[in-house]
Amino acid sequence: MRIGIIGQGYVGLTISAYAGNHYEVTGFDTNAKVVESLNKGTSHIEGVDSLSIAKLIAKGKYKATINPADIKGSDIVVIAVPTPLDSSRKPDLSYIDSACKVIGENLDSPALIINESTSYPGTIRKYIKPAIEKYSKAKLGHEYAISPERVDPGRQDYNQKNTPRLYAGLTPEATRRTREFYATFCDHLVEVSSPEVAEAAKLFENTFRQVNIALVNELAQISHALGIDVRETLDAANTKPYGFMKFTPSAGVGGHCIPVDPSYLAHLALENGVRATFIERANEVNLEMPTYIAKRVASDNGGSLKGKKVLVVGVAYKPNVADTRETPAELLIDALEKLGAVVTWHDPVVGSWNGKDSVGLGGVDIAVVVTKHDVLSAADILQSAPYVFDTTGKVKGAVQI
Ligand SMILES: NC(=O)c1ccc[n+]([C@@H]2O[C@H](COP(=O)([O-])OP(=O)(O)OC[C@H]3O[C@@H](n4cnc5c(N)ncnc54)[C@H](O)[C@@H]3O)[C@@H](O)[C@H]2O)c1
Repeated sequence: MRIGIIGQGYVGLTISAYAGNHYEVTGFDTNAKVVESLNKGTSHIEGVDSLSIAKLIAKGKYKATINPADIKGSDIVVIAVPTPLDSSRKPDLSYIDSACKVIGENLDSPALIINESTSYPGTIRKYIKPAIEKYSKAKLGHEYAISPERVDPGRQDYNQKNTPRLYAGLTPEATRRTREFYATFCDHLVEVSSPEVAEAAKLFENTFRQVNIALVNELAQISHALGIDVRETLDAANTKPYGFMKFTPSAGVGGHCIPVDPSYLAHLALENGVRATFIERANEVNLEMPTYIAKRVASDNGGSLKGKKVLVVGVAYKPNVADTRETPAELLIDALEKLGAVVTWHDPVVGSWNGKDSVGLGGVDIAVVVTKHDVLSAADILQSAPYVFDTTGKVKGAVQI
């Protein structure tokens, strides 16, 4: 079987690496640089090692391409392209639309189309299927299914093989073929009654995290005002063996999922006459965290940051990955600069970001830790400035959130 995978980023390349052990995979991506380095056997994604890609290439089981015509002849096409928010924080399905165009214009035989990109319920039925049909010259009778991706880049304990995978097709045949495809490399498949259930479940998983992170960030602010240690409070609550799940305070949420996906649900809810008030408020609380932190830092430092040299430590949105999408570090830098600080950042995993390079640890008045990668030593961070504010709970001896 030949598999075409549209998008070779975190999701698409991960699937390519697994599927390549069983099928012939063509990974299509619009980024020529990514395609070039993949074809040299170099992975740009944490969790997909270059050696495994090089091995698949050597066996003729994988090739990356920028030529859309190369997906011709695919039995299955997986869509794994970005689904961001536009400037007014509404779902932006333009990447999905261009993936549909590539599929519609280039497939010349019936295939199973599976969407792995995160989007609102109804996307496969009401958006992807009609779009592909619109772009196709002939009626080919494709089958359509959804299997939302749950990959957590950088995570060691859960991967494609042992993370249960939801799936559902628009027809029983699509459902059957989707199950057969994933069963070759996933241990736990969970069939649901409709694609809309799978799409909604994916959005709710991330909404659950977003709302709980906001809740604990609010608790951090309340605890500070009351003079109570928030982390000790959370550890205490976590001794209850049921009905509680521990989330920890942070500088906010980042990445392509948690700050974005809930807004897809909120958007669809509003279109259907329901206001997603929890989601809206959670967004606000999380987006306000960087300003709250900057104000706390200023207040601890004589009430002003004017001219103070501040180092933000860790600009990736989570530990041990180089991903800076939607990172709260960006909002924190803005908030610190607004208060007059001269801000630099240190992140050996990210290296360069927004046209600037990571600077060394030290030589500053203040350090604020957003993300602590394993390669960063807590002791070195603590030594890097006379005042260190820690949002991660991993730098003992620093001022805690
Ligand atoms: N990263 C995660 O942890 C994660 C987890 C679960 C679900 N998702 C979802 O999966 C989808 C993909 O996310 P990602 O993290 O892999 O994104 P990514 O940015 O890492 O990769 C997307 C890739 O698609 C390419 N691309 C864009 N438009 C294209 C097109 N028209 N044709 C071909 N390639 C195109 C980009 O060049 C990029 O390489 C999103 O909907 C995301 O919400 C991501």
